[in-house]
Amino acid sequence: MHMDNVRKLMELLKNYDINVWKHSIFVMKFSFEIMKKLDLHKKDVTNILIGSLLHDIGKLKICKEIINKPGKLDIDEWDEIKRHPTYGGSIINQYEINSEILPLILYHHERWDGKGYYGLAGKHIHFGARVIAIADSVEAMSSQRPYQNMKKTKEIFMELLNSRGSQFDPDLINQLFKIESNNQLIFSKNLVKEQGILEKLISVSRNFNSNIFYSEGY
Ligand SMILES: [Fe+2]
Repeated sequence: MHMDNVRKLMELLKNYDINVWKHSIFVMKFSFEIMKKLDLHKKDVTNILIGSLLHDIGKLKICKEIINKPGKLDIDEWDEIKRHPTYGGSIINQYEINSEILPLILYHHERWDGKGYYGLAGKHIHFGARVIAIADSVEAMSSQRPYQNMKKTKEIFMELLNSRGSQFDPDLINQLFKIESNNQLIFSKNLVKEQGILEKLISVSRNFNSNIFYSEGY
């Protein structure tokens, strides 16, 4: 039932705003790439993948004009955008999603230094929410947005390193860069090359089975 509802919510999101849906799929991919460098239990990996998929589900309650506004948001619009983690929390309660996903949704905009939406800091922020925060930022940096040019991989790495201890968990960033090989590829969004991986990721969301990755070398 839990995964049926994850799928239902992703369908709703896809129909509401395809860009938020695509963003969520890529955030799930990037979270997975980050977690490959960490030693985690499969259950935690699966929860964080689902949390990545649903992190912005609260945007279902925000009007499209605000989500897609090309110019700067005014104060009221910005306040409304900042409510999406809270809206997301109420949506996943309503859809009876596993309660372990809740802190991932609520706290994905927290910062290590405590200057995020709820003001939690350091290890008070749920571990999975710290992973999703990195994946979310990488996805945003690697996208062309009306207010921001797409950053190159090297610039993204520099940004992550420079934000250690301010925006991001410094240990997580250090572990991410510990193994040098393939760093150029981990945040790739090349859909042609990655099509198979994206399909696997989507099927994980359908089947609630992260073994798909492990059995095929991911
Ligand atoms: Fe968000």
